[in-house]
Amino acid sequence: MKKIIDEILRLKKLRNASILAHNYQLPEVQDIADFLGDSLELSRIAARLPSKIIVLCGVRFMAETASILCPDKKILIPDKNAGCPLADSITVKDLRLLQAKNPRAISVGYVNTTAEIKAELDYVCTSGNAISVVKHLKNKKEIIFVPDRCLGDYASKVTRRKLISWQGSCPIHVDIMPGHIKRMKKLHPQAAVLVHPECTSEVIALADAAVSTSGMCKLANKMKNKEFIIGTEKEMLYRLRKDNPGKKFFAASARAICDDMKKITLKKLFFSLKDMQYEVKVADDIRKKAIKPIKRMLSIT
Ligand code: 13P
Repeated sequence: MKKIIDEILRLKKLRNASILAHNYQLPEVQDIADFLGDSLELSRIAARLPSKIIVLCGVRFMAETASILCPDKKILIPDKNAGCPLADSITVKDLRLLQAKNPRAISVGYVNTTAEIKAELDYVCTSGNAISVVKHLKNKKEIIFVPDRCLGDYASKVTRRKLISWQGSCPIHVDIMPGHIKRMKKLHPQAAVLVHPECTSEVIALADAAVSTSGMCKLANKMKNKEFIIGTEKEMLYRLRKDNPGKKFFAASARAICDDMKKITLKKLFFSLKDMQYEVKVADDIRKKAIKPIKRMLSIT
């Protein structure tokens, strides 16, 4: 392992590249990254870094968002098959049909969407700001919300707005059951429960907070609790434990593993830097449209 780490660091320096990793990446990938973050944070970091080459250790929609926000940079993803079933749950044709059925509705879409979907939206939102985006649209009568029904339900409940939701979901988060939380609460009654808003409303109802992955980092650091039950992908616990050595973190469900995130390995990261693969570049016509709903979101939050 030491040899491959040294080689990655050597190539990174040679290329003047930066390595960005999502909070769900394998521990060894998190350890070698220059920056860790949630879905949108990574693209924003990519945009402000001086490096012209960014290796994004995450899934494809994250690399695409980085390409939309920084078209002058080369965005590499170490495994071109690292996808997101939630992002793939809606096609442009599906979205256009939904828009045609609801011609007066404004379209809001989660950042976990393809660049082509973003190009058809009025606003993008993240797990961290979906509520602010929906609240901002107080004068709009109808809101289409895609693709995650759980995030849509959560935003709808908090803002008391009826949303026209696409019925997509993250298979990892909807597999976390209320029973998992109840069982862990019994074992650790003093623990605070933090879950991702991609979890079902029944799970969110049992939690102290529903926040993005970086929101979890901030809350775990800020809250006085010494124990936390975490309802999201397993590797989140690696970062939380590393950042908070005095606190204890328990996974709500041991089954919460995103295989797509695990496709990025040190070996693939090495080849990515060595062979400059695989470049993710959003075509200019799509990029010009997709950046508008992202900028609208950024101007609100
Ligand atoms: P975050 O933006 O909270 O990191 O969520 C990413 C994700 O894909 C959750 O499944």
